[in-house]
Amino acid sequence: MFLSEETPLEIPIENIFFAPGATNVLETLAKICLNEGDTIAIEAPYYFNFEGDFKRAGNPLEPLYYKDSVPLYLKAKRAFEDGAKCFLVNNPRNPTGYVYTKFEIEALCAWASTIPEFFIIFDELYANSCYTNQKRFFSAIKMSLKYDNVFVVRGFAKDFGLSGFKLGMCISRSEKIKAKFNYWRDIIQPKNSVFAVFDFILQKTNFGKKIFEENKSILTQATNLAMKCLDEIGLPYMVPEGGVFIMVDFRKFLEKNPRENEYTIWLSLLYEYGVAIGTGKLFKFLEEGWFRVCPVYDEFTIKEGFRRIGLFVNRKKFSL
Ligand SMILES: Cc1ncc(COP(=O)(O)O)c(C=O)c1O
Repeated sequence: MFLSEETPLEIPIENIFFAPGATNVLETLAKICLNEGDTIAIEAPYYFNFEGDFKRAGNPLEPLYYKDSVPLYLKAKRAFEDGAKCFLVNNPRNPTGYVYTKFEIEALCAWASTIPEFFIIFDELYANSCYTNQKRFFSAIKMSLKYDNVFVVRGFAKDFGLSGFKLGMCISRSEKIKAKFNYWRDIIQPKNSVFAVFDFILQKTNFGKKIFEENKSILTQATNLAMKCLDEIGLPYMVPEGGVFIMVDFRKFLEKNPRENEYTIWLSLLYEYGVAIGTGKLFKFLEEGWFRVCPVYDEFTIKEGFRRIGLFVNRKKFSL
């Protein structure tokens, strides 16, 4: 229902497979498509839980550190030439908030379509959490219905504001995927009660396009306010295009041992100032000093959070 509002495509129901959460869908996909030990390449920094999700399936992640100017399909091509069996694209990207363009996605899928034994997985958990003033999100659903080796993963925990609600889905036209998901149905099928709650939300509360528009507008306002606060404090950041986070640059506060120091900054903000943010280390940032801040709160909480970060910054400035 909400997908038909989002894409003009008719998605045949037999091409949609469910599991308890996107986490489970990703693990199942790896088990179906890959052999134990096969590597999955992904652009770093990336969402830290991917590592655990694929580890359970027996597949290590290969972080790729390329400049943004390198075309996406070339990154995948090089990973394939280096022995990777799968390329994972998280769009919009957690933690940087980068949104891949239609051109990047189409070029990647067109290249991958020539190598059926190489798989492309699109994790589109934040598909409906893009900002109104940024790039337009382009879903790879169309490609997943065109090519056997392209899969789209969606979940309901983020865009629907249902954190902890374990319902995820895979969109694929592949007969192999269909057969395997059906084979494991008894084990991986989400509970009927989860479907019932979700059905209720969709049908009875008119959840859909309207709520996503509202969501995007709230997200845009929250992120604009967060960026304004950061400008006032004088902390640089990566301008996000989607997702619910901003990568903030604390590098100037690093001292002798950057990795350890990153941890001390995190500890200080949490215990002395009551602000919880994520270290770059968690997301496999190459360079220390970047932190992921989630500013998805009401205006008062956002301002208060950044006021406290400002206090930390001021204290640091005077002690440097
Ligand atoms: C990019 C990404 N993929 C997958 C997940 C996991 O989703 P689920 O709770 O549906 O398992 C998350 C959760 O934070 C995420 O950020």
